[in-house]
Amino acid sequence: MRILKRVLSLQRHLNTIREEGLTIGFTPTMGALHDGHMSLIRQSAKQNDVTVASIFVNPTQFNQKDDLDKYPRNIEGDVALLKKNGCNYLFAPLPSQVYPKGLITKVDLDISSLTSLMEGPNRPGHFEGVVQVVNRLLDIIGPDNLYMGQKDFQQFTVIDYMLNELKRDTRLRVVPIVREADGLAMSSRNVRLDPVLRPITPIIHQTLMMAASQLSEFSIEDIESKAIEKLTIPGFKPEYFTIVDGHSLLPVKRPQDHDLIVACTAVWAGDVRLIDNKILKGEITIR
Ligand code: PAJ
Repeated sequence: MRILKRVLSLQRHLNTIREEGLTIGFTPTMGALHDGHMSLIRQSAKQNDVTVASIFVNPTQFNQKDDLDKYPRNIEGDVALLKKNGCNYLFAPLPSQVYPKGLITKVDLDISSLTSLMEGPNRPGHFEGVVQVVNRLLDIIGPDNLYMGQKDFQQFTVIDYMLNELKRDTRLRVVPIVREADGLAMSSRNVRLDPVLRPITPIIHQTLMMAASQLSEFSIEDIESKAIEKLTIPGFKPEYFTIVDGHSLLPVKRPQDHDLIVACTAVWAGDVRLIDNKILKGEITIR
């Protein structure tokens, strides 16, 4: 695996690859990699001739400086995992490479209809920052396929919208959530969990499964309030538990009117914010 820090050197390599008619799969990450990320890398390695990953803790998507400063970093571990799972190129740039002075990288795109709920209201500017960095990375790398996780349901939906609106010819591939054996969704933030709270975190997955089993029996309102109740235990604080249409990300009233329904939740376990989701009806289809 080659590790490149500069846009021009990465592009030199990728241009040759493209001239040879080979396909490129790309997985953007912020590092502190785990098996959830590796599942994206493995899928890319299976479906493309060349696999590129990026590690860049993108400052424009953090609305709290504290969260950016505390974001876990583990570059040696990351490199070892990427090598083992079939990654060919790691792009690990400094902010000045991604956001060089004088280059306009902000994307003029109204994503407000997709970000009015869930992660949106609590993290102002977050998805605009994600759109900005993913669009810039796509400009740099020009992949055939882009790999993103279902773990961040709202994020891949926003990026899917961006790809369509900007008529980018990269195809989005969404990879299912990878969980620990006890059901906790893998996340870079899990290393920061209080060891006393960690054994209780499977309650999040259990609550999502409970919601799935109740869809045909109870009203959406009832399912949501029962879920919040179940998640309100010492040390935990649910921020939201919302059942939405999987395309529009807007609230569901009558399940029979929707072909894709997903329950999304954010829960504080001590001072660590965990997000998770489960599809209650249908399956993800990317246009
Ligand atoms: P990061 O949190 O590092 O996640 C990178 C990718 O890995 C995302 O597409 C995310 O959904 C996926 N992922 C994380 N945990 C997963 C799990 N348990 N199972 C499956 N996939 C998982 O998301 C970001 O970085 C950033 O916002 C980024 C897109 C890189 C833009 O900066």
